Amino acid sequence: MAKSEPVSARHVAIIMDGNGRWAKKRHLPRALGHQRGVESVRRVVRGAREMGLEALTLYAFSTENWRRPEEEVSDLMSLMKRFILSDLDEFAAAGVRLKIIGDYKAFNARRRGTGQGAVARTAGNTGTTLAVALNYGSQDEIARAATKAAAKGPITPESIAAELDTADLPPLDLLIRTSGEVRLSNFLLWQAAYAEMMFTEVLWPDFTAEHLRQALEDFSTRDRRYGGR
Ligand code: IPE
Ligand code: IPE
Ligand code: MG
Repeated sequence: MAKSEPVSARHVAIIMDGNGRWAKKRHLPRALGHQRGVESVRRVVRGAREMGLEALTLYAFSTENWRRPEEEVSDLMSLMKRFILSDLDEFAAAGVRLKIIGDYKAFNARRRGTGQGAVARTAGNTGTTLAVALNYGSQDEIARAATKAAAKGPITPESIAAELDTADLPPLDLLIRTSGEVRLSNFLLWQAAYAEMMFTEVLWPDFTAEHLRQALEDFSTRDRRYGGR
């Protein structure tokens, strides 16, 4: 069969990994690695917008990341809150729709309020959707979705998919993980069924919009067969 025309990705997800190792290599505190990681988020969100991606899903905090020392968890929480608040004006002006996936019930009322306020403010935007995964675990997401689906009728792949946190996003095209780890760490297990995967040694604080552009270019040359031929 003739190779299909290059296609562009609509939905890209990134496991932003390697902040700790980035800091360690420089004998800097981990918190600084996370701070620099936020700079990468800014660059990549801008890039995604400019490249016309419909959706970018970023893994910011997993259901397993609560196992980290309290100080690191609290550093991460305040960084994320500050990021959302400081960049909200830019998102709003640039047409970015902010979305939060994961189980928000774990957060206190004040944090939930901040998140929900930011989401509400950009809800009418029609540009790139930025989905931030907070207290996100794919197994938890599937269990929540299956519970909702079962309450409505028979459980089928479609009825579960319709209840996933990502139900309103385009199908996942490309999943990128930085820092050389080759695993999914409980991220988008269902959605990754036919996603293309890309693993790079680049540590997240070193990841730029140019890396994203290259990943999209690589994606456009892949032959996705979905089990057919
Ligand atoms: C990714 O960097 C950030 C989060 C998981 C929140 P890490 O903190 O996992 O960095 P490494 O893997 O220890 O280098
Ligand atoms: C995955 O990275 C979670 C996020 C990037 C938020 P981890 O660093 O927590 O993953 P493991 O523990 O190495 O699998
Ligand atoms: Mg890590």
